[in-house]
Amino acid sequence: MTTLIEQLGINLEPNECIKETKDDFRVNGKVYTNQLLFQLEMDRIFGQTWIFVGHESEIPEIGDFKTSYIGRRPVIVTRGHDNQIYVMLNRCRHRGSVLCRDAKGKAKFFQCIYHGWVYDLNGDLLGISKHKGGYPDDIDKSGLGLMAVPQVCNYRGLIFGCMDPDADSFLNYLGEAKSFLDIHLDRSPIGKINCKYGAHRTEYLGNWKFQSENAVDGYHGDTVHESFFKLIDEFGNKSGQHGAYTQGDFKEIIEHRTTGRSMGFKNGHGIWESPMTEGAILAMKNGPHAEYVKELEELRGEKLAHQMLNSMNLMIFPNLAVAHGQLRVIRPVSVDKTEVSIHFYDLEQVPDNYNEFRMSGYQRFFGPAAFGSPDDVEIFSINQTGLQAEEVEWLILSRGLQREKLDNQGVRTGDPTDETPQRAFHRAWKHFMTNVS
Ligand code: FES
Ligand SMILES: [Fe+2]
Repeated sequence: MTTLIEQLGINLEPNECIKETKDDFRVNGKVYTNQLLFQLEMDRIFGQTWIFVGHESEIPEIGDFKTSYIGRRPVIVTRGHDNQIYVMLNRCRHRGSVLCRDAKGKAKFFQCIYHGWVYDLNGDLLGISKHKGGYPDDIDKSGLGLMAVPQVCNYRGLIFGCMDPDADSFLNYLGEAKSFLDIHLDRSPIGKINCKYGAHRTEYLGNWKFQSENAVDGYHGDTVHESFFKLIDEFGNKSGQHGAYTQGDFKEIIEHRTTGRSMGFKNGHGIWESPMTEGAILAMKNGPHAEYVKELEELRGEKLAHQMLNSMNLMIFPNLAVAHGQLRVIRPVSVDKTEVSIHFYDLEQVPDNYNEFRMSGYQRFFGPAAFGSPDDVEIFSINQTGLQAEEVEWLILSRGLQREKLDNQGVRTGDPTDETPQRAFHRAWKHFMTNVS
């Protein structure tokens, strides 16, 4: 009896793609380049885990909808007539057309562009065009609605869908990473964010995992983003405005980075955190955002409030990165093509000038014409090109492996520039790729 992998013609089992000893961690290059492994990922990772599909603030009113993807499956997220959120496969039950082709909008119903079948906001089939004498008059429409995504979770406004009806609950899946997602959301005094601005999208010619790894990579900044840090060093010192990087001394920023941490969680989630210096906190307390900092200290306590001011990126395996100013959604298009949608979000009920400050930091580093994200995206394509030299079989992700601390919840903590979150990501990749339910 041949295994599925053998039938697909892969000579490399997923559980042989990741090699780990006590001081060495390697990932096979085929993990990023092999077409058949990619197909298996769509089935076993994007078909078994919880995938971010949207935020409730994108569909605040009845009839609002947005389209998204679970791996390569198109989905539609709607606010139904009963004010409930529905997540359904965006595929007409007749002959398979994408039903809704708009990124977002408002509708009373959806009509398929091919033969005109009409569906309600909750996916029910309302009508079959040119029905009489064609399809039987008494056709049972009840079984012909859009297929619902088997599990949906709205966690504090973030909507996740899971194609596996038997998968563990979202909160169990999130595990110990939950408190870090809460930190992002609790930066708002009422614990709410708003993605009302829509998204800007970018595509790169590289594998989707490069973006997932990079979202919590504290090791690359000083090389890939050196020009940015030098610029804020010079410009910031002249203008006194550093945005998120309040301390303008480049050397201090680099040295201070050693005081942060990186973490890897079960199921592949991870964080990278770089704390504010005491001077930076003091500057925030006495600067234009003093009112916001004071309110946060009163609400959350000083220690947690100050942690909330830190730079902290959270990667929720496999497709959502959450940072100070953005939800970054990763969509695999093919083994060597990825779309990234970046949603800036407002914190609800904070002073306007604080959201403006966050927006300006976001524009400076992450926007389409900014100093940071375009450099990262270029690196992802360069990685994919480099991996065409297939004679070099393995990538090395061992940084900090020996000093990584493992607690009894399975959480690993490393230095901020260690490859701790990336290793957690690949351990989970291996787990799900070999988990045949
Ligand atoms: S494919 Fe949608 S109506 Fe025919
Ligand atoms: Fe980067």
